[in-house]
Amino acid sequence: TWTTATFVEESIKEIRNQVGERRVLLALSGGVDSSTLAFLLHKAIGDQLTCMFIDQGFMRKYEPERLVKLFHEQFHIPVVYVNARDRFLAQIDGITDPEEKRKRIGHEFIRVFEEESKRLGPFDFLAQGTLYPDVIESADTSIPSQPGQRVAVKIKSHHNVGGLPDDLCFKLVEPLRKLFKDEVRKVGRSIGLPEEIVQRHPFPGPGLAIRILGEVTSERLDILRDADYVVRQEINRQGLYHDFWQAFAVLLPIRSVGVMGDQRTYAYPIVLRLVSSEDGMTADWSRVPYDLLETISNRIVNEVRGVNRVVYDITSKPPGTIEWE
Ligand code: XMP
Repeated sequence: TWTTATFVEESIKEIRNQVGERRVLLALSGGVDSSTLAFLLHKAIGDQLTCMFIDQGFMRKYEPERLVKLFHEQFHIPVVYVNARDRFLAQIDGITDPEEKRKRIGHEFIRVFEEESKRLGPFDFLAQGTLYPDVIESADTSIPSQPGQRVAVKIKSHHNVGGLPDDLCFKLVEPLRKLFKDEVRKVGRSIGLPEEIVQRHPFPGPGLAIRILGEVTSERLDILRDADYVVRQEINRQGLYHDFWQAFAVLLPIRSVGVMGDQRTYAYPIVLRLVSSEDGMTADWSRVPYDLLETISNRIVNEVRGVNRVVYDITSKPPGTIEWE
């Protein structure tokens, strides 16, 4: 029978066999797959592993810092933190079309990845958090047909853009390729990943950039991060995190009139998006207690400067999508 302990033990052996004395690069995203992967590889090959985290500037409040801190302090795994916030923001300056935003962010990700891997390298291997469903779905041509063959690989990221340039070649290390998501969670838990990573809601690769409709600016990012943080806090406080498939805030690039004290305000509205779902293909808006909505609304309007109105999205999928862009 399958146990997490035997899985960990056997993967470590296999990784050591495959990698030998050579170097491996891993791009951390903050999710359970890449975190579990990092832990296994570090256990197997120690400082032959380089973990890199590319901060695009579109993560939720405190998440980049927490991820790096967790790896340093709890796991003693060094992470190369790449602050690429300005260059990602510059790439989408003035861009309002959702698909164009995604495309530009995806391409910038590849560029940063390439530069950093050259700077930190050379590496023989790239570690990827490929899971069993990815393997059967894609019948992936990037997987070497002969052991040890070097191929140009696609970076598995949430960015649906092409692969690395042909001159940047890696062999792949994919120790999770026989696992389903729930098994990765079990392994993650057994090696001490905190629940906030093990059970983390899905988060889109372009992150908050597609939760600000229209133009993304650093002012809008700050506002959305703060509003989103309130949503997160209140949901956790009520112990409701696991009731949702996703729970987040969206910023609309329009202004409406409000009043605070004896002052007229003219500021952004925030949309609350709380949904339940099995797989993200369909979703239902969540019937949450009015009290929760009230608390979230009051806190956002009182605490987040630049917001004077909160609305609740009561559209299911279909016909709505979960994200607003
Ligand atoms: P929609 O909005 O299409 O989302 O109902 C379905 C699921 O996919 C996630 N999503 C994305 N994930 N890159 C990603 O990695 C993206 O560009 C992207 N767009 C949507 C969304 O969060 C939901 O879980």
